[in-house]
Amino acid sequence: MTTSPPQRLAIVTGVTAGIGLAIARALHADGFALYGVARNADKLAALDLPLHGSEVRDLSVESDVSACLAELDLAGVREAVLVNNAGSLDPIGRFDTIDLAGTRATMLLNGLAPIFVGQTFYRAVLAAPGCTGRIVQITSGAAHRPVAGWTSYCASKAAMWLGTQVMAEEMDQARCQVMALSPGVVETAMQAQIRAESEASMPGVGWFREIAAEGKLASPEVPARYLATLLAGERDGGQTFPHGESVDLFAG
Ligand SMILES: NC(=O)c1ccc[n+]([C@@H]2O[C@H](COP(=O)([O-])OP(=O)(O)OC[C@H]3O[C@@H](n4cnc5c(N)ncnc54)[C@H](OP(=O)(O)O)[C@@H]3O)[C@@H](O)[C@H]2O)c1
Repeated sequence: MTTSPPQRLAIVTGVTAGIGLAIARALHADGFALYGVARNADKLAALDLPLHGSEVRDLSVESDVSACLAELDLAGVREAVLVNNAGSLDPIGRFDTIDLAGTRATMLLNGLAPIFVGQTFYRAVLAAPGCTGRIVQITSGAAHRPVAGWTSYCASKAAMWLGTQVMAEEMDQARCQVMALSPGVVETAMQAQIRAESEASMPGVGWFREIAAEGKLASPEVPARYLATLLAGERDGGQTFPHGESVDLFAG
């Protein structure tokens, strides 16, 4: 970073679309400078949001996960937030049909990147006197229950959630805290992907089509507003960050 440090910095992975983009917008509107992480440089450059910093990283690749935020300098920042949002459902299908390479990539992206990018962020927080950190792991109800066709997704989100609980136990809570946020069923490209699946690959696809047809999907602004309100409430002293907890916004 070459410009002077912002008081508040929000780092969002998967900032180019869906929930990540909505969270970036909401936190920017609330006074956070933004640091975007995306796998697609063109989409990152096309964002209609001012970025204080950015990195192009494919978080399903080990070297990119290791390098992500490695140069982050939080000197002068008072409040730093990391939202580990980037995620994927691939490969969808019965467990006896999916491939190991695709599942391994999703284990890294959904399961391990939030822990290891969180590790790098935590070290940067500790290295910056006066800075407090908040890590928000975007999770899913699928971390806690089996969904047929989603072996890779369920296993990776469950791994992330259990790892996150260990992080919560071990970290210096006075300096940094971590929570998981399950955003509900949210109208994004991910839901469109689900609805396009066959019943053979995903037996429960009908439920997702039904709630979409009934207009019951949440907008990406719902989890974004929740997070902005939580962080503002904490700043005002009216709310406590739910350290070590998994908050589920599913309304139905
Ligand atoms: N939508 C829901 O109903 C729902 C429910 C529960 C949990 N979630 C979770 O919410 C998070 C966001 O999902 P979404 O619904 O907003 O999905 P989305 O619209 O498909 O957006 C996913 C974001 O992650 C990025 N991404 C995907 N693979 C990546 C990789 N290998 N490296 C770096 N970035 C990558 C995408 O980049 P590109 O723009 O380049 O594709 C995109 O910015 C995910 O963790 C998902 O599991 C979503």
